[in-house]
Amino acid sequence: MAVGVFDSGLGGLTVLDAVSKRLPDVPFVYFGDNKHAPYGVRDADDIYNLTCAATERLWDAGCNLVILACNTASAAALRRMQESWVPRDKRVLGVFVPLIEALTERRWGDNSPPREVAVKHVALFATPATVRSRAFQRELAFRAIGVDVEAQACGGLVDAIEEGDMILAEALVRSHVDALKRKMPEPQAAILGCTHYPLMEEVFQDALGPDVSVYSQASLVAESLADYLKRHPTMIGSGTESMFLTTGDPRRVSDRATQFLRRKITFTAA
Ligand code: DGL
Repeated sequence: MAVGVFDSGLGGLTVLDAVSKRLPDVPFVYFGDNKHAPYGVRDADDIYNLTCAATERLWDAGCNLVILACNTASAAALRRMQESWVPRDKRVLGVFVPLIEALTERRWGDNSPPREVAVKHVALFATPATVRSRAFQRELAFRAIGVDVEAQACGGLVDAIEEGDMILAEALVRSHVDALKRKMPEPQAAILGCTHYPLMEEVFQDALGPDVSVYSQASLVAESLADYLKRHPTMIGSGTESMFLTTGDPRRVSDRATQFLRRKITFTAA
């Protein structure tokens, strides 16, 4: 029973890469719903239905634990899935909480009351659906007080990355950073709240300037998953096969994935 990693498309590969380096003995099954990407422009019901279908496929592949390596699904669908849909012997975890725990200087799983933290002005870059959900602000309010969050919905950026059009992606990053800075001229920290965005991390950092700490999820999710599996070892199980599944065109998706991760990745049809 491997661990499942889900994203609407290629962005979750940034998380897959980090978790498989951190936990080299754990087999991971990746599911990219490339046919239906981007999720960030869909409504919450649509995102919920697509995410449940993908999660079921990962359960069929022998994964008892599925990581939603997609902020949009984590924001728009995860809570509803956990409350009414996930069976007792399975788990679905999102990617928001590890990031917020790092930003608010907490140990993994520390649920003590909210308190003052060093960072006061935070820029959030995410998809339109994630920004609309306000899930990030809600999770942050459980852990920190007095933090001002300015969110920028980065329309078009996921499409450009999925298409492999990095020139357009760079132009979009720079214009979204400019738009954010008009609303919050001096953020102390910036959250890349979409798993596609670490593929553009250098451009975000360059556009934001050296004084802004850029937080991205991959390594944080990897550390928190390692901690979770230490506490819940039965969630790994005995499966041995890592796989990459896509609802899109496997050859096209494999080419893009190979280009992004700079190692040979072969997707098969989901
Ligand atoms: N990588 C997803 C996220 O983290 C993708 C978004 C999309 O499909 O719009 O939000």
